[in-house]
Amino acid sequence: MSNEQQVRIYNPTEEFKKNAAVSGMDAYRALCKEAEDDYEGYWARNARELLEWKKPFTQVLDESNSPFFKWFADGELNVSYNCLDRQVNAGLGDKVAIIFEADSGEVTKVTYKELLSRVSKFANALRGMGVKKGDRVVIYMPMSIEGVVAMQGCARIGATHSIVFGGFSAQALRDRIEDAGAVALITADGQHRGGKAMPLKPIADEALSLNGCDTIKNVIVAKRTGAATEMKAGRDVWFDDAVADQSDVCEPEWVSAEHPLFILYTSGSTGKPKGVQHSTGGYLLQAILSMKYTFDIKPDDVFWCTADIGWVTGHTYITYGPLACGTTEIVFEGVPTYPDAGRFWRMIQDHKVSVFYTAPTAIRSLIKAADNNPTVHPTKYDLSSLRILGSVGEPINPSAWEWYYENVGGSRCPIVDTFWQTETGAHMITPMPGATPLVPGSCTLPFPGVQVAVVDETGTEVPWGQGGILVVKRPWPAMIRTIWNDPDRFVKSYYPADFQGKLYLAGDGAIRDKDTGYFTITGRIDDVLNVSGHRMGTMEIESALVAHEKVAEAAVVGRPDDLTGEAIVAFVVLKGSRPTGEEAKAVIKELQTWVGHEIGPIAKPKDIRFGENLPKTRSGKIMRRLLRQLAKGEEITQDTSTLENPGILEQLKG
Ligand code: WT7
Repeated sequence: MSNEQQVRIYNPTEEFKKNAAVSGMDAYRALCKEAEDDYEGYWARNARELLEWKKPFTQVLDESNSPFFKWFADGELNVSYNCLDRQVNAGLGDKVAIIFEADSGEVTKVTYKELLSRVSKFANALRGMGVKKGDRVVIYMPMSIEGVVAMQGCARIGATHSIVFGGFSAQALRDRIEDAGAVALITADGQHRGGKAMPLKPIADEALSLNGCDTIKNVIVAKRTGAATEMKAGRDVWFDDAVADQSDVCEPEWVSAEHPLFILYTSGSTGKPKGVQHSTGGYLLQAILSMKYTFDIKPDDVFWCTADIGWVTGHTYITYGPLACGTTEIVFEGVPTYPDAGRFWRMIQDHKVSVFYTAPTAIRSLIKAADNNPTVHPTKYDLSSLRILGSVGEPINPSAWEWYYENVGGSRCPIVDTFWQTETGAHMITPMPGATPLVPGSCTLPFPGVQVAVVDETGTEVPWGQGGILVVKRPWPAMIRTIWNDPDRFVKSYYPADFQGKLYLAGDGAIRDKDTGYFTITGRIDDVLNVSGHRMGTMEIESALVAHEKVAEAAVVGRPDDLTGEAIVAFVVLKGSRPTGEEAKAVIKELQTWVGHEIGPIAKPKDIRFGENLPKTRSGKIMRRLLRQLAKGEEITQDTSTLENPGILEQLKG
């Protein structure tokens, strides 16, 4: 991004800088230096200032059982208390916590006092069912106030929640319930999206009818669509009935800072999804600190993160971070294109949103919509309430960045391009809006206190300007603690022997600008795809495909896509003969539907191609590099001399 191209740099205005939490680069560097000089002292100071502890900690970082690090382990606190009671006790009881906008446009506001009451009742209901500290509770819910209440309710009694995104299939839900060994499932009759009502409870019922879910004793069902719903006697209860007679006072369960607040399943490069286990104290600390530094959150801000609570972004920047800061936030049930593609802009205007956080894939689709229909162009709306814009989930291409900056932010609002992961819990590399000069397409510099580097295969730092592997050099408070049920996989995945177990491997490639040291993420270095900001393992999709009776073999790769970032391309060998024409079309449909049913609609391959075989080396290894070129529609320029069956390439061209 330096030299050859002319890069425009966007500096914060003096006025913005004046009131910013991190005001100017000197302030940013001072924070980094504080952490550099006394790493534990920096995090401990923040943990004392930003969290309310029932029992103060005396230990900070415990590295004795590396890489199973502990932070503030002898301290005790409760996350729900820190999010809700703390605001009410500080006199913010009547402040609006959540502005919920339904798919239909209906708006419901909940104050901190009301939210505390609703969470307490729900927590009491869970306790009444015998759910206790350390039990796992799976939540399979739409974007709703009840969804947030369910998560906070679990946190209040020390139950570990595991959210399964409402777009996942019965099979995917079953796998996660079984792996977590959950005792209760919280769901809804259905969900509204884009003007349509979609079922949830029937999918939950299907999951529970499969093997491995008999740990579930209670199912709590929120009423959302009013669809006719079967309730199994002795197991199922309506959400409203469960909370009806409960007290609105619920003593929080005080837990160790290391207590698992949640498990969230995410895709890896091999095998089944991994249950990323997060802590209580360290996690909440960085959720709050990033709200303060990255989003510069102030008491009168209206914050809107458009993610779903089913992803980590929704955990940290909907359920926990904003509430722990006493912020007013938007929770949105619907989709960006209903009733039209001006929905986001209209909502920003109506609710006077000041900090807006969304994904590049949404921006790209709204650019396209605005190009086709000027009435949904952001400049047609009053977006003057905005002061900060955020981006997350995948690299944002410079042209989308500039469009977002000019048309949504009115060339006035800094864009924070936040790089992080399910495993990191909170932002890792991101601009500070009142300090960092912005360069479109770069997530710029590490969050104060986070120590990242770009290294080669041996773990040695490479010079700026040279691409390499992104690692984190020191444990950080909000980091993943382990993979639920699989500590060996945790060590192998994130602290590999290649780096003597000393560096956290993010799984992304990165390059630092040769002059500024700014980071640009160059994409995953493993077999993980990023489709519309959703993480998908190629192996997971391959396993789903080969589970179909007609499929003998399958290989899945990604291909760049203008709208979704990456698109899924599957190369398939059928057990019978290779289909062509209409027959091929029918099998493609069948396989897409099948994958949708096995994993969820987001995993459906966009492009499926059939061959009599896959390109393999003489030793039988699938040559994925060739498949990636074929997927892009490129001529094969690579060396194919080790290829056993070159004739197959012709069949696999798009
Ligand atoms: C992967 C993590 C936690 C955010 C939601 C996704 C990619 C994420 C950026 C960014 C470039 C990004 C990486 C990362 N990614 N944010 N700002 N710039 N790439 O969480 O599902 O755990 O995916 O998303 O590849 O490893 P996730």
